[in-house]
Amino acid sequence: MTEHDFSPKPYTNSIEKGKVTWESPSNIALVKYWGKKKDQIPENPSISFTLNECKTITTLTFTKKESNKDFSFEVYLDGNKKDDFKPKIQTFFERIESYLPFLRDYHFKIETKNTFPHSSGIASSASGMSALALCLMSIEKQLISGMSEEFFNQKASFLARLGSGSACRSIEGDLIVWGKTDSIEGSTDLFGVKYPYKIHQNFKNYQDTILLVDKGEKQVSSTVGHNLMHNHPFAQNRFQQAHNNLEKLKPIFESGDLNAFVKLVESEALTLHAMMMTSMPYFILMKPNTLEIINKIWRFRQDSGLHICFTLDAGANVHILYPENEATQILEFIKRELVVYCQNGHYICDQIGFGAKKID
Ligand code: PMV
Repeated sequence: MTEHDFSPKPYTNSIEKGKVTWESPSNIALVKYWGKKKDQIPENPSISFTLNECKTITTLTFTKKESNKDFSFEVYLDGNKKDDFKPKIQTFFERIESYLPFLRDYHFKIETKNTFPHSSGIASSASGMSALALCLMSIEKQLISGMSEEFFNQKASFLARLGSGSACRSIEGDLIVWGKTDSIEGSTDLFGVKYPYKIHQNFKNYQDTILLVDKGEKQVSSTVGHNLMHNHPFAQNRFQQAHNNLEKLKPIFESGDLNAFVKLVESEALTLHAMMMTSMPYFILMKPNTLEIINKIWRFRQDSGLHICFTLDAGANVHILYPENEATQILEFIKRELVVYCQNGHYICDQIGFGAKKID
């Protein structure tokens, strides 16, 4: 497929107004996307678990307007008007308007809320942009008869990608690949696809407990972060490593090799942070408590023989990943030894989910 496949044919139906609601989850990357080309095309492939509890719920109310000169929209978070969200949505609309020609025909009221606190340090861009993209696709679906579910999901992911790269991995679950790589058939830079090969029972219902180490504003926005990979001395090796890691994950997922999984996932997280530490300008996004947690996890893994591991996004919070059948002991350990490192003792228990849902 190419991006031209997402430019619609002339609309066959006409609608005056309506309202649509979607809830869409966040996701956590195992192989990280870090570095992009023009139009949010990733420099390397990535793969993520879709989450279940951390999600955004967005209602889009649309009303046909007289003139189709400008975009017209208002945004609310938790019922409060958020004019500071508007520039990001304006940019999103500009990027996607050639694929959704109806955008200038309606006034939109965007009402959104998250199941996780706004200032938790958990990025809401993946869940937020995917929820909005899905609402817009529900409108397009009413304007064109006979759209297939497969095309609907592909285009929603394609549009979400143009809002925030990793958002394209939030439409479906439970394991999503984004970025063309030879070892995964059907993978593409344009949208997220379901991981197409066998997944061992060990990885079903995988758990993710998110330790909120630092709830502050992100020190480095992801736009700045991705740009740090331009002219980065280790960029090409890193991009190649991501391809290799995706290939290595195939036998791991098939055989259920948890020890190999732990090594690969932690190495990916540390590599992401190593890229930030070795860019110019350079950043350290981990906090002292991030390192305390990592060291405690390593010690506990050694002592207990359990398959607990961590991953990190571009921030200080720690995602602790573990199989469901080890959950009781690992949660006990988290509560006993790790929660003290969280801001206000705050953590979120999540697990693998199966993607976004339309709310009727
Ligand atoms: O989608 P963005 O542009 O916010 O980038 C997200 C990048 C990481 O979260 C650090 C890694 C990933 O693959 O999700």
